[in-house]
Amino acid sequence: MHTMGKLKERITLITGGNSGIGFATAKAFLEEGATVLISGRNQTAIEEAVKELAHPNVYGFKADVSQLPEIEKMFTEIKDQFGRLDVLFVNAGVGVLGPFETITEDQFDYNMDVNFKGAFFTVQGALPLLSNGASVIFNTSLNAHVGMPNSSAYAASKAALLALGKVLATELAQRSIRVNSISPGPVQTPMYGKLGFPQEALEGMAETLGQKILLKRFGTPDEIARTAVFFASDDSSFVTGAELLADGGLSVNPIMQ
Ligand SMILES: NC(=O)c1ccc[n+]([C@@H]2O[C@H](COP(=O)([O-])OP(=O)(O)OC[C@H]3O[C@@H](n4cnc5c(N)ncnc54)[C@H](OP(=O)(O)O)[C@@H]3O)[C@@H](O)[C@H]2O)c1
Repeated sequence: MHTMGKLKERITLITGGNSGIGFATAKAFLEEGATVLISGRNQTAIEEAVKELAHPNVYGFKADVSQLPEIEKMFTEIKDQFGRLDVLFVNAGVGVLGPFETITEDQFDYNMDVNFKGAFFTVQGALPLLSNGASVIFNTSLNAHVGMPNSSAYAASKAALLALGKVLATELAQRSIRVNSISPGPVQTPMYGKLGFPQEALEGMAETLGQKILLKRFGTPDEIARTAVFFASDDSSFVTGAELLADGGLSVNPIMQ
């Protein structure tokens, strides 16, 4: 395999690395020479992803980020096996969407527990392992910025994550740890099948969004993976507390055209 080497010698962890953007990022990090640890909530899915990546430098860990003891257990194992982390891509996320008036407490908690609380305690758990100069990357969402109907709890969980990224950039700068956020617009991943919407509604949403995106298409997981490589590598060595909106121009589509 051709190795570009921007992440050579780096030990990286991607949460939610068995699917979609996380999986594409695992591939991209491996191509850049990193050691890649992927975590997820489903042991079988993790094992299959490791198998599919078929690389000597990839390792799987099972940790549901909404369960703090599982996060703790994973970092104990990582500490024992690898001793440190140089890159942490906080990517695991879920989206349960629906009209505001129908969102239940369980749905609210699920969005928040995975996307925000899980991310919060993932970084806290990783802290002792993060090397000086490490890079922490959050996968937030364009939804943190826009009033997309049906996204209330999801959007709020991502806005909270975005805020956390800025605060952590200030607190971790003393260890030269950089903290940045990627906010993707619509990206074609298995997430759409997990939103809790019927197929017709999904197709309708894809159609409407597709027309509004300036580039007239959804992003690919690989395109987001490349922004993660940027934040993970020394290419972004003077960038911290920043956000990269990768949305095909959706957010700047003019109201009147
Ligand atoms: N796709 C988009 O349009 C889009 C846009 C903006 C932001 N994002 C964000 O991008 C991130 C990745 O999403 P994706 O689109 O790549 O979707 P995906 O294919 O569903 O990937 C999400 C990953 O997170 C894992 N995960 C979910 N809950 C978890 C938990 N409690 N503990 C550990 N891992 C968990 C999933 O595991 P399972 O495979 O077991 O479900 C999966 O590996 C998410 O944070 C999402 O909010 C996506």
